[in-house]
Amino acid sequence: MYINKFVRIATLMGCSMLFMACGDNRSVSSPDGRTKIDFSISEAGELSYSVERDGKPFIDASRLGLVAEECNLNSGFEVSAVEHSSKNEEWEQPWGENKQMRDHHNEMVVRLKGQNDVELAVRFRAFDDGYGFRYEYACGREDDKVTVTDELTEFRLAENGASWSIPGNFETYELQYRNLPIAEVEDANTPFTFRTESGVFGSVHEAALYDFPEMVLRRDKNGVLKSDLAPLPDTKKAHVPSTFHTAWRTMQLGDKAVDLINSSLILNLNEPSKIADTDWIKPHKYVGVWWGMHLGTQTWVMGKRHGATTENALRHIDFAAENNIQGVLFEGWNRGWENWGGSQSFDYMQAYPDFDVERIARYAKEKGIELWMHNETGGNIPEYESVMDEAMAKYASWGVHTLKTGYAGGFKGGYLHHSQYGVKHYQKVVETAAKHQLMIDAHEPIKETGIRRTWPNMMTREGARGMEWNAWSEGNSADYLCVLPYVRLLGGPMDYTPGIFDIDYSRARADKGRIMWNGDNTHCCIKTTLARQMANWVIIYSPLQMAADLIENYEGNPAFQFFRDFDADCDWSKAIAGEIGEYIAVVRRADDNYFLGVGTNHEARTLSLPLDFLKEGVSYEAVVYADDTTRDDPEAYIIEKRRVTAADTLEVAMAAKGGAAVSFMEVED
Ligand code: NOJ
Ligand code: CA
Repeated sequence: MYINKFVRIATLMGCSMLFMACGDNRSVSSPDGRTKIDFSISEAGELSYSVERDGKPFIDASRLGLVAEECNLNSGFEVSAVEHSSKNEEWEQPWGENKQMRDHHNEMVVRLKGQNDVELAVRFRAFDDGYGFRYEYACGREDDKVTVTDELTEFRLAENGASWSIPGNFETYELQYRNLPIAEVEDANTPFTFRTESGVFGSVHEAALYDFPEMVLRRDKNGVLKSDLAPLPDTKKAHVPSTFHTAWRTMQLGDKAVDLINSSLILNLNEPSKIADTDWIKPHKYVGVWWGMHLGTQTWVMGKRHGATTENALRHIDFAAENNIQGVLFEGWNRGWENWGGSQSFDYMQAYPDFDVERIARYAKEKGIELWMHNETGGNIPEYESVMDEAMAKYASWGVHTLKTGYAGGFKGGYLHHSQYGVKHYQKVVETAAKHQLMIDAHEPIKETGIRRTWPNMMTREGARGMEWNAWSEGNSADYLCVLPYVRLLGGPMDYTPGIFDIDYSRARADKGRIMWNGDNTHCCIKTTLARQMANWVIIYSPLQMAADLIENYEGNPAFQFFRDFDADCDWSKAIAGEIGEYIAVVRRADDNYFLGVGTNHEARTLSLPLDFLKEGVSYEAVVYADDTTRDDPEAYIIEKRRVTAADTLEVAMAAKGGAAVSFMEVED
């Protein structure tokens, strides 16, 4: 069933795989020759690698290998062969920031023989935009099991510099960024992004993570940043079969901060799609009954403030149909929310009596709107795994193609979210969903490592502090939003749920008032301008993109035209300007239209952006939605229309914490 028809491989330059007999050459360079990786082995048969960038040390000799109980996975090795090959191929994906991709790399596989029949291949791939390597082990008898207790991989950066990361926590990614000198980082999750003193931009992450724990970076007692794996309750890191391979340990590289965003390294290190027919997988825009619960004007639980009522559902479906929005989400549609935070037991089949799900599904279908289902598990994995297949079959019978999942709560049995147990669970959900033709939007997920290439129904995920934090905490600052694209988003799409127009929640307060449900919310508000909220629809890539505010806050607001015009199914993307923590400008093309999103941190800023990304010789109507910098009001914006071509430069003036969104539509001359 899972043979991909979409990944059409057009082989360039005649022969793509070029095997060379390279004898004992133990190094591999990127196609542009700027990055060179060297492999070494000590007398004791211990393994290490080092990396040069532009002829200068970038990674000093750093240890390689794993530690296991049953066999020696890190020393006593001898090199048995070194194989070199190259690839330069184009491939296509059904959706993504860029649908046309190119995988251009040089590969080196170092084959090693260890003690007691242990075999190891360390596979290195060097690309112009970075490199990756992984361990492929075969240990002893086929039916043996291996208990992994540690990973020794080191990342000895040759230079100090600045870094941006969240702490290395195995339960949550919803943490604030730290901007620390590399030398002062004690632990960090990945993507771990940095700029060395000599100006190399890099980011450590992993690609294709399956059946293995997540990796974070932790400084060991010798002061070295090394891999640390999320543990299981039995204190081991992973239980794997005797033949196994790890995820890729990756390093994205660039000369500019935005090069990291434009890198395709992570996807190139994942396998082609295993889903044969992807026609049902469609990027789209959505609205939903969601923000009201976070604001405290509505509840998930049935009662006076219940958000997911039949009446409200039909109203949202009408709104979507009238506004060129394809999907609607209803949280709190199913029974069990009264248990959230307590026994964490949800009913995934039964709707609350005031939500007539079958009628709503029929109405959505009539109107051509995708009805989303929502499964909050509260972290009760055994219960969810026991019913998810049946529940998903039911959703499919209602014509549903999109499922948002959630794991707000600790896992039972002492399992950590980011452990091997968690990684396996999230994958089981993706594969079960694929069987029922359901796209997944996972909240409180495992990190994004590019598996969307192999499982293109794994659309988007949270995995950082999203919009919800603005409703009941100190919120996400404009500075945070200027770090996010260079760190978390390097892994892949995020369901941030952008686009709140009621910046100070004055309309929410004037309506039925806000109840407190997750701490003191009296001082909460959106920490950016309205125009920046719009820019986030472009900047924060998600193939399922939400207009997250209450729909009544969009009604009659001229700025909402941008979201009506916006197309979540883009074909091409580029980050065209930016500095980490300071500002960001991203452009995407969908069919013949372009969408630009620009945002700044706490400082007002004007950017001059050459429009040379537009098609040459074509005139466009640019509609600029920008901050009204003459007024001290974050909701104040201006809309300007002008005719532009690729030869023009656009000046964008942003207020402090502001931004701009621009649509470009082709016009006849
Ligand atoms: C946390 C998710 O991030 C949010 O989107 C959702 O509304 C709540 N959990 C409830 O499931
Ligand atoms: Ca969350």
